Amino acid sequence: MAAEREAFVAFFDQLKADILSDLKTPAFRLPENAFDWFSRSLEHNVQGGKMNRGLSVIDTYRSLVGERELTKIELERTYVLGWCVEWLQAFFLVSDDIMDGSVTRRGAPCWYKMPEVGMVAINDAFLLESCIYRFLKKHFGKEPYYVDLLDLMHEVTYQTELGQLLDLITAPEDNVDLARFSMTKYRYIVEFKTAYYSFYLPVALALLMAGHKADAPSFATARRILLVMGEYFQIQDDYLDCFGDPAVIGKIGTDIKDNKWYA
Ligand code: IPE
Ligand code: MN
Ligand code: MN
Repeated sequence: MAAEREAFVAFFDQLKADILSDLKTPAFRLPENAFDWFSRSLEHNVQGGKMNRGLSVIDTYRSLVGERELTKIELERTYVLGWCVEWLQAFFLVSDDIMDGSVTRRGAPCWYKMPEVGMVAINDAFLLESCIYRFLKKHFGKEPYYVDLLDLMHEVTYQTELGQLLDLITAPEDNVDLARFSMTKYRYIVEFKTAYYSFYLPVALALLMAGHKADAPSFATARRILLVMGEYFQIQDDYLDCFGDPAVIGKIGTDIKDNKWYA
């Protein structure tokens, strides 16, 4: 398992090199200063997480195919999908830290807090999202389930953004009103902003790659189980925001300052 983790981590360099080498081609001809900026953004924002989400694609795919060894191409594809989830998370986190006014993430300053970055981070978040679709096109463009991968990514992104919307507008910082608290809203927030992309997405990607059709009942079954796990995970995240040790969780909580007594 530790070896799998290392191989997965090492694969990041390949994906980063792919993105960067494209930027040197006549199609993009990105000037050196922007090239360096993009490279720094990838290193700062995509790496350094726990990688549970990315690794879960590989674990799931392995259990779907059973005992046999994965071929080199299968293994590579599970790594690509795993990193797509990590890239999606990077896109959400760069934006989330701006919106939450956070200071640190993964034991380092948030990207927008880095010298000279500031609100350029908004565009960097968009670029992180765009990388996902370049990886999918390159590695899965000719696969019969390519459109299903795209559709899943878009659907889960939409769900996450709806969760973030409710999270952000339910308790504005300048208007504390505990009467607005409701478990229904809390549950919606944690399901939509976290559970879909963190728990359902990696498993659903592996199901598609393993040949399960997008309308198969296995997706609904997986969703039913994984959304509950995601809810539990986000409740822990909310507890740790207030009571966790920043040295251990790698970030300083902002929920109380943000008037997010519910999340
Ligand atoms: C982040 O939720 C959810 C997404 C990134 C979509 P939080 O704002 O509660 O997460 P942390 O505590 O900053 O990591
Ligand atoms: Mn946050
Ligand atoms: Mn948030």
